[in-house]
Amino acid sequence: MKKKYNIKILPDMNNGDYFIKSLENDNVAIVKFKSGYKVFSLTCPHMGGNIVVRKSSKNLGGENEGFPIFQCNWHGYIYNIDGSFKENPNIENTKNVRVKSKYYNPVDCEKNLKKNLMLNSIKYIIKEDTIEIEI
Ligand code: FES
Repeated sequence: MKKKYNIKILPDMNNGDYFIKSLENDNVAIVKFKSGYKVFSLTCPHMGGNIVVRKSSKNLGGENEGFPIFQCNWHGYIYNIDGSFKENPNIENTKNVRVKSKYYNPVDCEKNLKKNLMLNSIKYIIKEDTIEIEI
């Protein structure tokens, strides 16, 4: 059963700032962007692992440089600040067992992850200094 939560917005949040709220039904990250806020579920869309937020390492580069990233503590999948899938850091370690067959193509598998896997973005309503969500 869904439940409503009112989360107090932290004052003076800048682009890329975030905070985490542990709720009864899920943990969520509230991220501030120039255009507003995004609220993400911290349950991994891969297989339901717990996601943590951390500062991106320098080697991620590009437009996400300096922003936090999301990383699952089960299989390590990394998601960008906008919730899109970034990479599976274990792909190199497992390349010997990822062999192409009639039923599996490692290249297609990685492409499909990028295309289909995304953090669950939660709709919200801003009411003065709180964000209201229902999860
Ligand atoms: S459950 Fe998150 S990477 Fe597998």
